[in-house]
Amino acid sequence: MRVRVRAAVLEAFNSPFKVGHYEYEVPDDWVEVEVKAVGVCGRDVVVWRGGFRNLEPPLVLGHEVFGLHEGRPVGVFPAVVPRECISRAAGSALECPYRILGENLPGGYADRVYVPSWLLVDLPDSDFEKYAASVCGIATLMHAARVAGVGAGSRVLVTGASGGVGIHGIQYLRLLGAEVYAYTRSEEKARLIESLGVKAVTRPDFYREEGRVDAVIELVGARTINWSMRALKPGGHLVLVGNVTGENVVLERPALFVMREIHMHGSAAYDMREYRAAVRVAGTGLVKPFYRTYKLDDINKAYSDVVNGRVTGRAVLLP
Ligand SMILES: NC(=O)c1ccc[n+]([C@@H]2O[C@H](COP(=O)([O-])OP(=O)(O)OC[C@H]3O[C@@H](n4cnc5c(N)ncnc54)[C@H](OP(=O)(O)O)[C@@H]3O)[C@@H](O)[C@H]2O)c1
Ligand SMILES: [Zn+2]
Repeated sequence: MRVRVRAAVLEAFNSPFKVGHYEYEVPDDWVEVEVKAVGVCGRDVVVWRGGFRNLEPPLVLGHEVFGLHEGRPVGVFPAVVPRECISRAAGSALECPYRILGENLPGGYADRVYVPSWLLVDLPDSDFEKYAASVCGIATLMHAARVAGVGAGSRVLVTGASGGVGIHGIQYLRLLGAEVYAYTRSEEKARLIESLGVKAVTRPDFYREEGRVDAVIELVGARTINWSMRALKPGGHLVLVGNVTGENVVLERPALFVMREIHMHGSAAYDMREYRAAVRVAGTGLVKPFYRTYKLDDINKAYSDVVNGRVTGRAVLLP
């Protein structure tokens, strides 16, 4: 069927969005979700900059979609996979054909999205903004922690700790019982992180006083990865989740990597089980959501604030 939504459309990479009507085809059996809140993920910013070479504008971004389906509060699992793949673990799900909402399919920077019904997850309540702020970050760290074998008692460093993934992810790791070091460049954000009961560090050589860690969840990438490697114990695990500046990642001291037998992992998104668990965790209120809301019409202001580091946590768009 042909659908018409009001959306923020990216017509060319690295340029302002245009809000207006957008039409596209969807399979007849897909269902409608009225979008109530959608997060601006660091991944969206990579798409906006043109970082994914397989994508071509015009695009409607947005995979952190929360809203109403037939009056019921729902979240939308962002990987559009065949029904038989939905319950597979993340690694094996990658063997299924999949498309990402807001990338290969029009996403949630719109008043409505259309998706297969098996992607919908009921929300415990209607505080859509809370879920848009925190679910992707919690689920991403849930998956990254699994990849690196992080659990209760693990000492973990998280870089880029004040971003949308970081500030919710560090709270999740703390719930898991890990000892968390949250790296942020800003003294002010460090104080905020400390108020959550998480140890914040602003010096990349913090490990000289605090000791080395078992794992690093690397959310920044090129700018921090060499310090992250120095902070690891022998046999430690480095998990690359993001590379915010998109630069080449250069290993300054490969010998360190070799001699300490450091394990390097990639961590891609999350599976349905992790998504459902992240919705439950967000619903308990045990992870405090950090976000700033913007009307969809003010999306270009939201992007400018995100890119210039003026948002702690998530920018959340309200269609
Ligand atoms: N693999 C996955 O499954 C997955 C899922 C979601 C996101 N991601 C990726 O993870 C990364 C973080 O996502 P996000 O949503 O948290 O992004 P975000 O909200 O934009 O936060 C990124 C954080 O990185 C730090 N940072 C930004 N620019 C920096 C620079 N030039 N040098 C050092 N630090 C810098 C900042 O933290 P401080 O100000 O605290 O230093 C910032 O808050 C992105 O690269 C995103 O694409 C990956
Ligand atoms: Zn996301």
